[in-house]
Amino acid sequence: MDILMPFCPITLLLLLSHNAAATAAILGLGQLESGNSFTPLPLASPPLTLTPSTPSITHFVNDSFIIFCKTVQKDIDTKWRDPNGQPRENTKGRVHIEKKTGLLALVFEHISLDDKGNWTCEVNANAERDAKKSFELLVNQKISFGKTEMVQSVREGFDAMVNCFVQGMPAPEVSWLHNGEYINTSVNSSSSKYNQLSNGLYIRNVTQTDAGEYTCRAMRITPTFSDSDQITILLRTQHKPHWFYNETLPVQYAYVGGSVNLSCDAMGEPPPSFTWAHNGKGIVGFNHRIFVADYGATLQLNIRNNTQFGDYKCKVANPLGSIDRVIKLRPGAKPLGPTRFQIKRYHADSFELELRTPRMINVSDEMQIFGYRVAYMSENEFKYSAGNWSYAKQRDFSFHRGQRFIISHLKGNTTYLMRAASRNLAGLSDWSNVKIFATAAASSWLYTCWCHLVLPFIGFILIWH
Ligand SMILES: *[C@@H]1O[C@H](CO)[C@@H](O)[C@H](O)[C@H]1NC(C)=O
Ligand SMILES: *[C@@H]1O[C@H](CO)[C@@H](O)[C@H](O)[C@H]1NC(C)=O
Ligand SMILES: *[C@@H]1O[C@H](CO)[C@@H](O)[C@H](O)[C@H]1NC(C)=O
Ligand SMILES: *[C@@H]1O[C@H](CO)[C@@H](O)[C@H](O)[C@H]1NC(C)=O
Ligand SMILES: *[C@@H]1O[C@H](CO)[C@@H](O)[C@H](O)[C@H]1NC(C)=O
Ligand SMILES: *[C@@H]1O[C@H](CO)[C@@H](O)[C@H](O)[C@H]1NC(C)=O
Ligand SMILES: *[C@@H]1O[C@H](CO)[C@@H](O)[C@H](O)[C@H]1NC(C)=O
Ligand SMILES: *[C@@H]1O[C@H](CO)[C@@H](O)[C@H](O)[C@H]1NC(C)=O
Ligand SMILES: *[C@@H]1O[C@H](CO)[C@@H](O)[C@H](O)[C@H]1NC(C)=O
Ligand SMILES: *[C@@H]1O[C@H](CO)[C@@H](O)[C@H](O)[C@H]1NC(C)=O
Ligand SMILES: *[C@@H]1O[C@H](CO)[C@@H](O)[C@H](O)[C@H]1NC(C)=O
Repeated sequence: MDILMPFCPITLLLLLSHNAAATAAILGLGQLESGNSFTPLPLASPPLTLTPSTPSITHFVNDSFIIFCKTVQKDIDTKWRDPNGQPRENTKGRVHIEKKTGLLALVFEHISLDDKGNWTCEVNANAERDAKKSFELLVNQKISFGKTEMVQSVREGFDAMVNCFVQGMPAPEVSWLHNGEYINTSVNSSSSKYNQLSNGLYIRNVTQTDAGEYTCRAMRITPTFSDSDQITILLRTQHKPHWFYNETLPVQYAYVGGSVNLSCDAMGEPPPSFTWAHNGKGIVGFNHRIFVADYGATLQLNIRNNTQFGDYKCKVANPLGSIDRVIKLRPGAKPLGPTRFQIKRYHADSFELELRTPRMINVSDEMQIFGYRVAYMSENEFKYSAGNWSYAKQRDFSFHRGQRFIISHLKGNTTYLMRAASRNLAGLSDWSNVKIFATAAASSWLYTCWCHLVLPFIGFILIWH
């Protein structure tokens, strides 16, 4: 638009009117020419003049624009020729002619890229050689990214292209960033990782580290304006499935009446499918559920019958390949529940529990309990959930981490219901009886002193059953 500045007030007014001749008359165009004409001083007054009179005029696609061709003698017949030399005589349409005595307007309702080039106004059936005037229309186009895909996917181990279809006139310069880091594509070597091509970024030997966000940035600086735009493309690398963890337990245990989760977690792009089989057959019946996530599937089995033990195979597949793994499900011993379950210490917002379970004498060391699960909810939560323990919070403890059994982040002056179960490799024991414990009232001065010195005397225990 800048280039129009000298003409701006006039152009704007002219654009308001479709009756170009009338507008020109109002403005007194004769005066304007003498001020702005770039044509060399002629000996006699020139037969034709253009308004605006600059030899080249720049517009963006979709702008509207009018230019006038004026003759000195009012009765001379003139015409416009387009950049291909074809005469334009249509009085309607996107680009058309409006005629008045002594004035021939060329009207662009919406400029298109095809309109660029030299337009000429000339005298019809003219004897004089010099009786024509041209201007060059330069058409700029905003930067856009056309049908560039925001998520693209490429094969690992091959060369690949991140497509970015930049449009714009004049053509902008393109640069690339990977996860915010500038990519220097001007490094000159045929073995270099990247090559910048007109329709995208060429990447050699794609690996998983090439995944991520690619920013395709277009920028241009011209004498009349500068602008930039960018698009961010998420690049995924395709690969065959591989395990998240090298080794999951190849043997798991359960007992009849208990339940067990068998999990299968693997990466793959496109995201893989997961299928479970038991002893070579599909899993049927009601005693199982499968929880599917993007990169894993957990098989939850409720063991009702010895026939449910055996080999469970998880198969992970996507179009690039598949992997599988077998988990052997063996019968184990149901753990004994805790025989001692009480508060050891009160803190301002937590309890330390005392939990004990006798050693099981008739089972292997492997089947001895290794920890506890504690479930708890406040009295209010218990009421709201109508006594349904599936809404309770849970905390798992293991002996081998040397943990004390501390339930933290509790509210002060609040009554809690708690129950506990032992854990071993085969699962959970039965739940203990529910016990009710109340936290101490934590007034502000108690927080400022260190509380557990005071609180044990305030706390109380109720055994509930
Ligand atoms: C031009 O206008 C048309 C219709 O009004 C629109 O579809 C198109 O996107 C516009 N082009 C640009 C470059 O603004
Ligand atoms: C328009 O004319 C000018 C001057 O004659 C010339 O330099 C230019 O290349 C022409 N432009 C086109 C697109 O033909
Ligand atoms: C890109 O690499 C070339 C060649 O190694 C170097 O001359 C140029 O300065 C680098 N450009 C940037 C912006 O780092
Ligand atoms: C890149 O290397 C090739 C061959 O070694 C050479 O012909 C070309 O001029 C180089 N280009 C630049 C920009 O250095
Ligand atoms: C591709 O990259 C991998 C891993 O960096 C490498 O082992 C392999 O040789 C490369 N292949 C080619 C053709 O460069
Ligand atoms: C898996 O095992 C291989 C070979 O034992 C090792 O190189 C690799 O780092 C392991 N990967 C993971 C994720 O533990
Ligand atoms: C199995 O997984 C489900 C869903 O994540 C969970 O609710 C349940 O407690 C798990 N069961 C065991 C025995 O860990
Ligand atoms: C276990 O399941 C199988 C097949 O569903 C059935 O034939 C068998 O009677 C069941 N055994 C017991 C002890 O329920
Ligand atoms: C172990 O002994 C207890 C008590 O005698 C019994 O209830 C339980 O079934 C036995 N467990 C196994 C696995 O034999
Ligand atoms: C407890 O809540 C869970 C989850 O909403 C529900 O599936 C279950 O049937 C409820 N149990 C009872 C005994 O209402
Ligand atoms: C503790 O809670 C009870 C019942 O909600 C309330 O009456 C009492 O004022 C509270 N005490 C403190 C110190 O907040």
